[in-house]
Amino acid sequence: MGGTKRLCRPVILMGPPGAGKGTQAQVLAARYGVPHIATGDMFREHVRQGTPLGREAEAYMRRGELVPDRVVVAMLAERIGRPDCAAGFILDGFPRTVAQAEVLDRLLAEAGWPPPLVVHFAVAHGVLLRRLAGRRVCTVGGEIYNIYDHPPKVAGRCDHDGGELVQRPDDSEEVIQERLVTYQQHTLPVLDYYRRAGLVEEVNGEGTPEQVTAAVVALVEKIVCRDGRL
Ligand code: AP5
Repeated sequence: MGGTKRLCRPVILMGPPGAGKGTQAQVLAARYGVPHIATGDMFREHVRQGTPLGREAEAYMRRGELVPDRVVVAMLAERIGRPDCAAGFILDGFPRTVAQAEVLDRLLAEAGWPPPLVVHFAVAHGVLLRRLAGRRVCTVGGEIYNIYDHPPKVAGRCDHDGGELVQRPDDSEEVIQERLVTYQQHTLPVLDYYRRAGLVEEVNGEGTPEQVTAAVVALVEKIVCRDGRL
């Protein structure tokens, strides 16, 4: 009899825009059966639905700036409090400021979670630019493609559900530059914050997607708990 499986610690995927956080989070979430919580995706869904939160977030996203902490933190706290996070979860795009990281520490402690596993994808600037310029995303299921390195079988259509593939509005050259600067200013200090706590594992994000997945899975396997009788 196999026991139920869960992640003993939350997983945070960190890295600059285009590092491959979303690509890897989708694979890991499916593999371990836990939610992939991407604050960027949550905001884009609010924008799509035209909610007040979406209208507020959109202005910042269009400029490549961060949405204010109070907005992000409230949304994230509600999300990780849901029952589907009880067996673990994967964070992609959060935390992005030291203030967000401090709130997350508190939320995790209150919920009885140990400190997170922080996986950092290192990717050179030129590679990021090419990846972001070539990215296309399915409007139906959110699958991520790249016209250079991971094209769909039929141009402009998702392999899984035939959904239309589009470019994100913030993947324009000008906004990409701004997002990279924002990352340096606000999110690199978060990496230092976690490094000081001894929580960061480095992964070479420049391998093929499959190579990167293998490296991350090797790390995550160390925090998989199996409950119940074997
Ligand atoms: P968000 O959506 O989080 O964007 P990001 O962090 O800039 O990251 P990306 O989604 O651009 O990149 P990724 O690392 O996920 O790469 P991907 O896997 O897609 O945030 C958007 C905005 O929302 C922010 O600017 C901000 O305004 C707001 N926001 C979100 N969270 C916030 C927060 N916490 N606080 C405040 N504001 C917040 O891959 C990129 C491309 O590369 C794809 O085409 C993919 O196919 C390709 N690729 C991936 N891996 C590989 C590989 N190994 N080899 C070759 N190609 C690859």
